Amino acid sequence: MKKIAPCLLFLLFSVACFAQNKPQDYRPQYHYTAPKNWVNDPNGMVYLDGEYHLFYQYNPFGNVWGHMSWGHAVSKDLQKWETLPVALPEFDNADGTQTMIFSGCAVIDSMNTSGFFEKGFTKGMVAIFTSHIEGKAQHQSIAYSADKGRTWKRYDKNPVLDLGMKDFRDPNVIWYPEKQVWIMTVVKPLEYIAQFYESKDLKNWTLLSEFGKQGDMTKIWECPSLTKVPVEGTNETKWVLMISSGHRQKNYLAMQYFVGDFDGKTFTPQKQNEILYVDEGKDFYAAIPFNNLPKSHAKPVMIGWINDWEYAREIPTGDTWRGGFSVAREFSLKKTTDGLRLVQQPIIQPKSAQKEALSVKNKVVNGTYEVPFKGEVFDLTLEIQPQQAKVVTLNVFQSQGEATAIRYDANTQELSLDRTRSGQVNFHPRFSSVERVKVPLKDGKLKIRLLADKSILELFAQDGEQALTEWVFPTKHEGRITLTSEGGKAKITTLSVYTVH
Ligand code: FRU
Repeated sequence: MKKIAPCLLFLLFSVACFAQNKPQDYRPQYHYTAPKNWVNDPNGMVYLDGEYHLFYQYNPFGNVWGHMSWGHAVSKDLQKWETLPVALPEFDNADGTQTMIFSGCAVIDSMNTSGFFEKGFTKGMVAIFTSHIEGKAQHQSIAYSADKGRTWKRYDKNPVLDLGMKDFRDPNVIWYPEKQVWIMTVVKPLEYIAQFYESKDLKNWTLLSEFGKQGDMTKIWECPSLTKVPVEGTNETKWVLMISSGHRQKNYLAMQYFVGDFDGKTFTPQKQNEILYVDEGKDFYAAIPFNNLPKSHAKPVMIGWINDWEYAREIPTGDTWRGGFSVAREFSLKKTTDGLRLVQQPIIQPKSAQKEALSVKNKVVNGTYEVPFKGEVFDLTLEIQPQQAKVVTLNVFQSQGEATAIRYDANTQELSLDRTRSGQVNFHPRFSSVERVKVPLKDGKLKIRLLADKSILELFAQDGEQALTEWVFPTKHEGRITLTSEGGKAKITTLSVYTVH
């Protein structure tokens, strides 16, 4: 018995340690993740008949990149997703090679311009994707579905657009009513060029123009999209060209956008050589907007892949799943003294339908305030006046010796998200990092909204004027939240924390 006891203790200790930090602790609750395996870019996002479709880059056979196919999930409210079987799997070619289904989009061909559907059928779905043959070719191909994306047929004359290149990908197609044509935006990644094509039938494509060789060229260009976007407080719209590419901090990835005009042929940016980022965090990439949204959406809506190719393959989520998707975000443009800027709002269930856990008003903080809420799944809104404080810090996912720090420096007017002490950071040398972005106070106030979900943080500042999205991997899970002021008093005007279901 004396010998067995220490062994038993050791065993119990090991089990406890493992249990404390088991990979499933990182599984987000209200962000979509595939039940198992690797995911990257969202694809084919389209609305039809009460359902939002999220197709995505998926490896059906493992939790590393490979065998790229289109996974599929649907949602009625953009918040709860149901996983459906793989929509478009990788397939074998006659010569023994395989064609992977790389990123792309889906449209509803309600006028049957493609001729793929029965006469009068208005609900035909067409997917336009990159057909990728490893080391050999990338071209654009199409497939169609008459049963709401459940089963698909590939067009027998694929590819529909082939330049004979190895890198030519990620078609994104919209309907352009003024000319009654489909417009495709697609990139030559290594050349930093986006091309625009038009088609009347989704099968025959004619080059309209090119745009590129400007903006962020620190990384290749991928996953473009061209969207007509409303300008807040006006009846105007402008065109936004989004491109996944480099990050403000060298050799990470992010998305950039250009604001301009599109006349059915050419995209003209409002300013030359201006570099603007969609999200300043390291983990928001390859987002594309939904097609065919109902009128009830006044603004376009996008979803992004949460990850950064720098370390995407190594995030410590365990053996089952790897990678996830952002909450759906609606976006618009706002007039600022620097020009038009993107603003984003997450779409998550109206607050009334959620359980409010905490609400604090007009509270002065001098030193450290321990927020009376614990948890790792929440939606927090904070409006604070730094007043005499030089720095105010909101620590979340806080436990003994670890926290993710969201800091506001009143002197530099910089908001930062610091994950250097957030928990597991050593799985990759490039993971541990701090983001910094300029966020001027408004009437002396900073307003932030933080969507926290186990391992995902989506931070929005000043009503969506800035966004920062990041993975974090806490290890101790006490889930404390504290707010500290340094150098003087700060005043919380409102702080609310809602649990999200
Ligand atoms: C972007 C990307 C796309 C490509 C896909 C392959 O993350 O590299 O350009 O189509 O992933 O999975």
